[in-house]
Amino acid sequence: MTPDTRPDSIPDLVAMKAAGRPLVMLTCYDATFGRLLDRAGVDVILVGDSVNQVVAGQDSTLGATLEQMIYHASAVRRGVPTLPIVVDLPFMTYQVSVEEAIRNAGRVLQLSGCNAVKLEGGAAMAPTVRALVERGIPVVGHLGLTPQSVNVMGGYRVQGREQEDAARMLEDALALEASGASLLVLELVPSVLATRISQALRIPTVGIGAGSGCDGQVLVLHDMLGLNEGFNPKFLRKFADLAGPVQDAVRAYAADVRARRYPGPEHSFE
Ligand code: KIV
Repeated sequence: MTPDTRPDSIPDLVAMKAAGRPLVMLTCYDATFGRLLDRAGVDVILVGDSVNQVVAGQDSTLGATLEQMIYHASAVRRGVPTLPIVVDLPFMTYQVSVEEAIRNAGRVLQLSGCNAVKLEGGAAMAPTVRALVERGIPVVGHLGLTPQSVNVMGGYRVQGREQEDAARMLEDALALEASGASLLVLELVPSVLATRISQALRIPTVGIGAGSGCDGQVLVLHDMLGLNEGFNPKFLRKFADLAGPVQDAVRAYAADVRARRYPGPEHSFE
């Protein structure tokens, strides 16, 4: 890939690491934002199961369904014709058996037209990753804080601080790569560990709260746009503060409707 080529496949994303190009990933859940992200030059879009929190208003990702993911992934695909799009497999759609994982991941790609699935977990998921890849379904792994395991982890906190946990995470990362995973998301991982994992792998790592040593970065779109006023974790930089302007626009509209200043003659038909 040349330095300014837009990636249009999962192998293109893998090649970016060898070319020394940082990967820019953002979450997205609809066609309108998808078009904006595409025009703004992101490399890859993640239709995360965070949609269940950000859009559906639930307090975790656990309730996301396959139908929900297919609906949002299809919408994003319609707005983003060529960029690679990764779709999260929801909780319990891939853990029960390899057969179910193949069926569900296949459905996601078939019905949405997206390019890869993401699943959470380490070495225990390696046989599933291998089976998916062997059947033509690219897989993105996810280690560190894995939100679908929030009930086991006891909260959304940094993972891999203890030496034993750090060593296990490195082994998990190597197992996912050996099974054919194309990328690896590292969430809430100490920077030193994330850097070590990134250096040990041939495939790119994409960090969120995992420091600058990762091969790329991902953020939840609504968080980095400052739409989620109450969410201010240490790792997050708000690149805009859109909550204010959105509310200002709605207040201005409400005031104009109430004062009968809108619609004006220029908005009305003969
Ligand atoms: O669901 C999601 O948005 C994610 C990102 C936080 C990586 O998995």
